[in-house]
Amino acid sequence: MSDLVRLERHGALGLIVIRNPPVNALGAEVRQGIAACLSEAEADAGIRAVLLAADGRTFPAGADISEFGDAPQEPSLPDLCDRVEACPKPVIAALHGTVLGGGLELAMAAHYRVAEETTLLGLPEVKLGILPGAGGTQRTPRLVGIKVALDMMLSGLPIKAVDAERLGLIDEISPLRTLRLDAAALAADVDAPRRTRDARSQFDDGAACMADIAKRRALPNRPLASRKIIDCVEAALLVPFEIGLDMEREAFAECLASPSSAGLRHAFFAERAATKFPELASGVPHQLDTIGVVGAGVMGSGIAMACLDAGFAVTVIEQGEAGVTDALSRIAALYEKGVAAGKMGEGALTDLNLTTQMEALSTADIIIECVSEDLETKRDIFAKLGKLAKPEAVLASNTSYLDVGALAQASNRPQDVLALRFSAPVQRMGLVEIGVPEGANPRGVTAAHNLVKTLGKTPVRSAAVPGLIGNQMLSAYRAAADRLLLRGAQPAQVDAAMRSFGMPMGPYEAQDDEGLDIGWARRKAMKNPDPEALLLPDILCENGQFGRRSGKGYYIYNDEGKRGAANPEMLTMLMGERRMRPLPKLEVTPELIQNHLLYALINAGATLLEAGTAARPGDIDVVMVHGFGYPRHRGGPMHEADARSLFEVSRSIAAFAKEDPAHWRCAPLLARLAAERMRFAQYQAAEAQK
Ligand code: CAA
Repeated sequence: MSDLVRLERHGALGLIVIRNPPVNALGAEVRQGIAACLSEAEADAGIRAVLLAADGRTFPAGADISEFGDAPQEPSLPDLCDRVEACPKPVIAALHGTVLGGGLELAMAAHYRVAEETTLLGLPEVKLGILPGAGGTQRTPRLVGIKVALDMMLSGLPIKAVDAERLGLIDEISPLRTLRLDAAALAADVDAPRRTRDARSQFDDGAACMADIAKRRALPNRPLASRKIIDCVEAALLVPFEIGLDMEREAFAECLASPSSAGLRHAFFAERAATKFPELASGVPHQLDTIGVVGAGVMGSGIAMACLDAGFAVTVIEQGEAGVTDALSRIAALYEKGVAAGKMGEGALTDLNLTTQMEALSTADIIIECVSEDLETKRDIFAKLGKLAKPEAVLASNTSYLDVGALAQASNRPQDVLALRFSAPVQRMGLVEIGVPEGANPRGVTAAHNLVKTLGKTPVRSAAVPGLIGNQMLSAYRAAADRLLLRGAQPAQVDAAMRSFGMPMGPYEAQDDEGLDIGWARRKAMKNPDPEALLLPDILCENGQFGRRSGKGYYIYNDEGKRGAANPEMLTMLMGERRMRPLPKLEVTPELIQNHLLYALINAGATLLEAGTAARPGDIDVVMVHGFGYPRHRGGPMHEADARSLFEVSRSIAAFAKEDPAHWRCAPLLARLAAERMRFAQYQAAEAQK
């Protein structure tokens, strides 16, 4: 008998309890345990009905995703669900927590369902690039109808217990703490099994059902898993249950084998691994009440608003009365937008203290500096913060590219200084990189981590080097794109290729949107600018063409700021630069553009790993997905490198380097792993053992 599942006898009731923390995932041992307990309960003449429940925080939250791709072990989850449904004694599922995926499928195979009032129920498989594969596509429409079943499966979003009861997914709601008693009472009331497979009443209006299916099918560009969900739900309506199950199994196998499911599953685990900072084990967290923000430009306002919305008191420092007025209107605009979109609670602004007095920061637990990228100004601020902030307050900089070490020194309390880099726009992007200098106080790192989690964002740890992980990756990506321009590509071609790769925007559209003058200022401040860098963006800026804001950049923009065609003046400047700096021409295709930019990201990622800037390849993937809109279904550049093979990637980079040695050089770690036929995932596992 499994240690993870037990059978208790309570009079005529057989109680099967799953205990597999943290989320009672339905791995092989749990499935075997449930099957064994079920057999025992069936064979026990003293047991009249069976209650299926779980200890801990939730009824199973799904199949064990980490087992996908391993050799299958009996009983499979679909077979277990069939076993439960076939049980000759009534089976009642007692649900609490997050009843998701295979967990909900198991519950639907039971004959009756009771859920604690706070339970969430859902079928999130589509978010992993798969479909419910344990009878969910066949049983859900039988319980709640075609339309609701499609809504649940195609969105992947959970529903509340109260809605689940209204829709017929569960039979009863139970108040907190009486779940098993209520489920036992229901068990005492029912005489016989009621099998979901036999339910057909939801299909009475066949024409309406078919119309719901046709409506969903008409939407173009659906990913594979969504298309298969629609097919299988249609099968639930049109063919016998067993045939529907067979179709579901085939579709599940096809989706599971798809690259997009591999990418989405990688993202799921990488996101969770990335948030595990070593400091969390040692750092007792600070209590966080007040957050300070210095500088309320676009980033500072966004950060202040996010903190207010999460319930913190926020003190914002701006310069002069005009600065305060501008900041207030920016923050108020963000607030109104958030409230109108239903994303923000009312009243958040009451906890805002907007002032010119730095001393107001003396009670703040974390202070985030967000002024413009000027080292001297920032140094000045950190020197002041070092004196006025309370002991152990975290002093953080949102700098894009400057050296946090210099700011730490200026503060005279370097152990309290971190980089806290929010991705822009703060309202939309989920990434916050925490740059941790050597010798940083673990309590401070833990506090920053807590803040980011409380804001509902994903923290990723980086060494405190200029640019952290994200902006170093971005620099490599943009440099590779610029190189293509010199070798014959046009900005619009590069943008179109990267959009079809799945990026929300191409690199030149993005630079026009953020303003070309930002990079211009940075390059002007550099001591050793890259002699190979494209001059075009600087030339555009020298001519007053800063992108969308000024009406011209890589593209031209109309008075409403709508992007139009490529800027002809920019094309002339580009041709001039090409003539000045002849490089071997390329036969530019979308695939070539995508490969150059992807391989530049992989190469930069390998360099960051070797330097210890990123601890895990998965962290780099999370940064790219959450900070830069890298398509989640691709998993991230490091995952894609593994999927293509590092040998193939390094061979291609070697070929690029042959033609353009001034730009391309294979990262030593990438070359070594490729030679050893290793993958980044194996490197990560080996490093974790050290
Ligand atoms: N399989 C394996 N591990 C899982 C898991 C699953 N289904 N769900 C969660 N975990 C693990 C996480 O990886 C994490 O592990 P570590 O602590 O080692 O990092 C741990 O459980 C806790 O998870 P979270 O950190 O995410 O905890 P949370 O409280 O923030 O969220 C949750 C809990 C809502 C259940 C969330 O984990 C979640 O959404 N899980 C995935 C649910 C899911 O997709 N289920 C469907 C699975 S596919 C399926 O069931 C297919 C089928 O039809 C047969």
